[in-house]
Amino acid sequence: MQSRLLRLSLRFVLPLAVVIGLFAYAVVPLVDDLTLRWFVRDLDTRSQSLANALQDPLLEYVPAKAGKKINQLFDRAMQDERLYALAFCDSNGRLVYKTATYPEQLGCRGPQTPNQLRQSLVRLPHGPLHVSESSLDSDEAHLGKLILVHDMSFIERRSADTKKYIYSLFALMAVVISLITVFVAHLSWRDWVSSVKNILRGAGPRAHPAVSSEAHPIEGDLRALLREFNVERRTRDDSTHYWTPDKLRSLLHEEFAGDEILVVSNREPYLHVRTSKGVEVRRPASGLVTAVEPVMRACSGTWIAHGSGNADRESVDANDRVSVPPSHPSYTLRRVWLSKEEEQGYYYGFANEGLWPLCHIAHVRPVFRSSDWEYYEAINQRFADAVVKEARTDDPVVLVQDYHFALLPRMVREALPKATIITFWHIPWPNPESFGICPWREEILEGLLGSTILGFHTQFHCKNFLETVDRYLEARIEHEASTISYGGKLTQVAHYPISIAWPDSKNVVSTVAEDRVAVRAELGLPPDHLLGVGVDRLDYTKGIIERFQAVERMLEQHPSMIGKFTMVQIAAPTRSSLDEYQNFESRVRNLVQRINSRFGNGSYLPIILKAEHHEPDEVNRYFRAAEVCLVTSLHDGMNLVAKEFIAAREDERGVLILSQFTGAARELHEALIVNPYHVEQGAEAIYRALTMPDVEQRERMRSMRALVKDFNIYRWAGRMLLDAARLRQRERIMTKIRAHSRKSLRRVV
Ligand code: G6P
Repeated sequence: MQSRLLRLSLRFVLPLAVVIGLFAYAVVPLVDDLTLRWFVRDLDTRSQSLANALQDPLLEYVPAKAGKKINQLFDRAMQDERLYALAFCDSNGRLVYKTATYPEQLGCRGPQTPNQLRQSLVRLPHGPLHVSESSLDSDEAHLGKLILVHDMSFIERRSADTKKYIYSLFALMAVVISLITVFVAHLSWRDWVSSVKNILRGAGPRAHPAVSSEAHPIEGDLRALLREFNVERRTRDDSTHYWTPDKLRSLLHEEFAGDEILVVSNREPYLHVRTSKGVEVRRPASGLVTAVEPVMRACSGTWIAHGSGNADRESVDANDRVSVPPSHPSYTLRRVWLSKEEEQGYYYGFANEGLWPLCHIAHVRPVFRSSDWEYYEAINQRFADAVVKEARTDDPVVLVQDYHFALLPRMVREALPKATIITFWHIPWPNPESFGICPWREEILEGLLGSTILGFHTQFHCKNFLETVDRYLEARIEHEASTISYGGKLTQVAHYPISIAWPDSKNVVSTVAEDRVAVRAELGLPPDHLLGVGVDRLDYTKGIIERFQAVERMLEQHPSMIGKFTMVQIAAPTRSSLDEYQNFESRVRNLVQRINSRFGNGSYLPIILKAEHHEPDEVNRYFRAAEVCLVTSLHDGMNLVAKEFIAAREDERGVLILSQFTGAARELHEALIVNPYHVEQGAEAIYRALTMPDVEQRERMRSMRALVKDFNIYRWAGRMLLDAARLRQRERIMTKIRAHSRKSLRRVV
């Protein structure tokens, strides 16, 4: 402590002493010069008055050549201790009278002009002298001049004293100022460090009232710098009109030095399934997979997921890895195995009977069981371990997907503190009251707050999340910056509307017109038959029942459509082992049957339910063949079907009916937006879509296509990665500041 203070003092005292010394060095000659001038002026005045006093006697004695009297006069005058010598020179410049002290070297000096007093300073071996000459003139003639010599050595003595005092004064000032500076600097440094920490955390000065006012100018500069930094980032993002796989790849190289990306999700992008024809590779019906798979193709890396295909185990290598996509491998799929009980507890139980209904307002009660929770924790830990094992560096970029892994971000953070963890919650986040039902709400929130970035589809879900944390955890929330500081860790909560990869026109094998004809032929329908399409997992959140009720009402209200319009519903089986899903499926089937028997006629069916798995290409053909696509979810994070339909319609035709309760409705304003609970509104929307003029269809579709093309999945990933890079940079600055303050602390201790 003492040595640090000594060093700190020296660091400030020495430069200050030097500066003050230089200052004193410059000031002293000035003071010297000034005092000399005062004294000289004083001597001038004294000489003048003495000369005046001697004038009259000399006027009497000089013409009378009364030498003795003059000498006596001079001796009397010499009583003045400052006067050194006196002399008188006649008008011919001869030295006539002088005191004994008068220096010979002075002689009579220059010629004297009458009535003038002339002064000069002379330095002789015995010291400096002030010499003044006063002319002596009678009425008739110039008699000569009186020379008065004053001793100036007393001025030198006084000047030496003055210098001494000035130097002592400056030395004292130097010590006092230095001590004050050391003290203030010591206090300011501590405040400054905490203030900088504060800024980097995104906290305002109010959050730390102890921040000293001295820190504010620097704080302001830093804030401005960070703002510029952020603006620059945002500009880079916004100015990029079109995000492509290449752009994403180069972003990874620039910002993350080509670091490996690790994705964690429950659902795998490719399943190996044993069929009668041998092992087939399938793509699951999953919005998550639709979105993330193109990103992985672009970025390579490793995707860690549950191996759920019945031929998955025989397709992996000794490390449970397989390269995908099978046609042109570009990344690694690392499978994690679960037993039937584990899958039941973690996936069916906690994730899909608990969190899924908890987060969706679809009026299905969530079910929470302690045993499911235990599986959920254990499986999160297993996937976290897999992430740590797959990571090649201690600061990988980990993209955690969805509600299956709410605990995993914190688990990974504990093992890899320097990792950049981007968690994306693909489903809605409810309000604090609804979320409060969950018996393990604190654990889930804490788990998610292990993330560097936590992403949702909409601003509204972010707001719900911030409010939920505010309600249930002791965390510091900055609503304006949308950050949460919990347990010394900062999480950025932001919305990133998910999207799809815009299809490459080179891959299109048939025209829309050809698909229209082919699909109708397959369904046994005439070429001009009007088609509606719905593509969903058979899930109670998707509003499939409400959709069919709207079709029924439309046929009731517009009987002209009976026999002319058919709704094709592609419904991928999902979570079928759960009662809720089985009940839902049978309700759907019953409703279809009832409507078909009410309006069906011969081979005509108003609703065709295709409750089986369809590969993406097949689904695409239906999108292109239909007049209208119905997305009527009761609640949905985004709903990518809406965007896939738009992307498929290169002919700029077709109408999208979209539920107002989807994230997509916040972006796709040109869709016919409906409340799925309002059956009449849905029916009207279907009729309006089927009768919409071509021009209006084109206008709406063109605008939505431009938006989806621009805001594609590469942009979604790119924006998250850019933000992550910004936070990584921020973390680096923080680490440096922490290291610096640790070093300073060590010095103090
Ligand atoms: C929702 C989730 C996705 C999930 C999809 C399919 O859309 O947000 O993450 O991929 O459902 O669910 P599944 O249970 O079949 O994976």
